[in-house]
Amino acid sequence: MAEARAQQRGGYAEDASAGNPADGGLRFEVDGEIATITLDRPEKRNAMTFATWSALARIGESLPEQVRVVVVKGEGPSFSAGIDLRMFTPEGVPGQGSFSSAAAADAATFEQRLQQAQAGYLWLRRPEIVSIAAVRGHAIGAGFQLALACDLRIVADDAAFCMKEAALGLVPDLTGTKPLVELVGLAKAKDLCLTARVVRADEAVRIGLAEKVVTGSDLDQAVQDKIAELLAVNRDAAAATKRLLQGAQGRSLEEQCAAEGAEQAARIKALFG
Ligand code: CAA
Repeated sequence: MAEARAQQRGGYAEDASAGNPADGGLRFEVDGEIATITLDRPEKRNAMTFATWSALARIGESLPEQVRVVVVKGEGPSFSAGIDLRMFTPEGVPGQGSFSSAAAADAATFEQRLQQAQAGYLWLRRPEIVSIAAVRGHAIGAGFQLALACDLRIVADDAAFCMKEAALGLVPDLTGTKPLVELVGLAKAKDLCLTARVVRADEAVRIGLAEKVVTGSDLDQAVQDKIAELLAVNRDAAAATKRLLQGAQGRSLEEQCAAEGAEQAARIKALFG
């Protein structure tokens, strides 16, 4: 029904803000301190629409406070084949427009819609949580960027990353360029993005794109093992440390030392005050 309404208005992702996980092709489950987001359109290789990004953003907004670890994974053989290719057709995705309608939108509308989509990715960096992308099979374009939005990537041996945007005449715009440069360095990021070549699991680990590669049948256990390690440390210290690490590149050494001191003072007060 919502799709039909937006389609009538002919808008660009107008009704994708509803944010229901199922409408976005997602499943969302919380088990104590662990939340799991599953991209759940395996028959379309978990291709993503604006509704997917709105649903991701909504999950971020309403994440239960007790959650410390968020796992993002894909149902079926692929993590995600990226943006739904119907966006490239004149008809677009029902209720969510197309690139033709995006081209017709004014600059402010386009920017607002893109920010809505990016919001679905950005919260995964929040200091209070650690996000893990469990990647099997393809992670292409928007799917690759979703894996990059996570703090850690644990991958199956069939993982295949591809920043395909340039091949399609576009740029990566779902928050992926910064973490990519930070992870693999500027030259390698240029190599990957400007050739749209596929990076397989062994190379991903070698260049710092993934923390660990395991066989497909061991992926779930490897993620569980990592979660156990993460949950074993003090929650508030983990959040403070993540703040420090994420801020490090933007600070001078002196500023970083001061930031370490401020965080430690707060920790000591909390522990011994
Ligand atoms: N959008 C919509 N449908 C998709 C899709 C996508 N991105 N990727 C796959 N599908 C559909 C296929 O059309 C097919 O549907 P039907 O069964 O109805 O024909 C089904 O999923 C299975 O696809 P394949 O048979 O191709 O599956 P495969 O396992 O052999 O190959 C794949 C998987 C390598 C991911 C291949 O499907 C593929 O290359 N997909 C397109 C990837 C792509 O170009 N994505 C866009 C990236 S750019 C981006 O994401 C950035 C951005 O924001 C602009």
